Amino acid sequence: MAGHSVPVDFRVNPAKISNPVERKTLLQDMLPLIEPFTGSLSEISVCEVPGGNFVALYASDTMTLSVKLYSNGLVTATVEYYTDQVNEHKIANDTHGRALEKQLMAKFGCSVAKVLPAIKRAPPVNPYFTSSDDRLLEYDVDGIVFEEQSEFQKVQIYSTKSFGNLLVLDDLQNLAEKDLPYTHGLMNKDNEDFAGKEILILGGGDGALLWELLKEKPKFVTMIDIDDVVMKACRKHMKSVCGTCMDNYDGENYKIIVGDAIAYMKDYIKEGKQFDYVFGDLTDVPISPTPRGQLWDFLRTILGLGMQCVKPGTGKYMTHAIGIQCASALKMFEEQFEAQDIPVTLTRTSHYVPSFMEFWCFYQATRKAA
Ligand SMILES: C[S@@+](CC[C@H](N)C(=O)[O-])C[C@H]1O[C@@H](n2cnc3c(N)ncnc32)[C@H](O)[C@@H]1O
Repeated sequence: MAGHSVPVDFRVNPAKISNPVERKTLLQDMLPLIEPFTGSLSEISVCEVPGGNFVALYASDTMTLSVKLYSNGLVTATVEYYTDQVNEHKIANDTHGRALEKQLMAKFGCSVAKVLPAIKRAPPVNPYFTSSDDRLLEYDVDGIVFEEQSEFQKVQIYSTKSFGNLLVLDDLQNLAEKDLPYTHGLMNKDNEDFAGKEILILGGGDGALLWELLKEKPKFVTMIDIDDVVMKACRKHMKSVCGTCMDNYDGENYKIIVGDAIAYMKDYIKEGKQFDYVFGDLTDVPISPTPRGQLWDFLRTILGLGMQCVKPGTGKYMTHAIGIQCASALKMFEEQFEAQDIPVTLTRTSHYVPSFMEFWCFYQATRKAA
């Protein structure tokens, strides 16, 4: 059960909109092109709205057509209908949509006409997320296999056809079963030597990073995630990424702590405990049981604590950042490293992450010798 909105957009000579006779003709000529999909349309209303623009509304037995005519010549029309089956498309984009575009271009002599695939409105399971630069992404979701509001966040695992199960925290995609390139990107795999190393993971509740690191024979890995609900959900529904490492929280060469990574880092600093690698694998907006202030200040604080937990000279702080298109956010990330008292040598890599449908950036900050 879902509403469907099919956007139909084209541009005409502005005179066709400002001139009342031509405007009427434009609407009259447009209707027969759209009616094969909607059925016979009756006019409900046509009126002028501020800015010298016009809106028109039509309806058939089962569909509505709303049209906005802009004084600059843009026409944006939307066909809306409801179906019992979410994926039932009454206007197939590849055939009907393309044919309608050609007819609009021929009829109105316009160079631009675009019919987009139907946008699903309020289906039982939301298929839409966004890329890091706010582009709309539609996932081929089958359903939701896990959903719980934990003490800290909304934890969901979606089943998708293309990417397997997908962990979603507070409505943001975190990791899908097909996202091994994400985990390997975060590890800077094949460019780092984890064998015999002491490693700290901040967050990482999907278990993927821990599982992949354990394959590299580290001396010991400590993982601290605040949310046991995430770990329990992932160990059941994301087994292909976390293997068996979260079946027991105490392993031969690792331990998983349920707690606030920030509080633990403060304790490590007091004790003088340092690691060869510290991984920042927290949510993009890390959870804070205490007031945290502005996000970038908070991220800088976490980074500062993380850097103090890294061994000087050789130790590294590794973290994920954001999509490669977000140049200003990446610059902000780099400024947070530069703002630290601890000097680092910073490198950046990027890897295509299947479920994010974009290249994602990862930082490696090597702590300079004291
Ligand atoms: C699932 S991992 C993966 C991050 C991911 N790759 C992404 O897209 O952001 C993020 C984890 O950080 C954990 N987390 C957030 N804030 C935390 C904190 N203060 N201490 C420990 N873990 C935290 C969340 O519970 C979550 O499990």
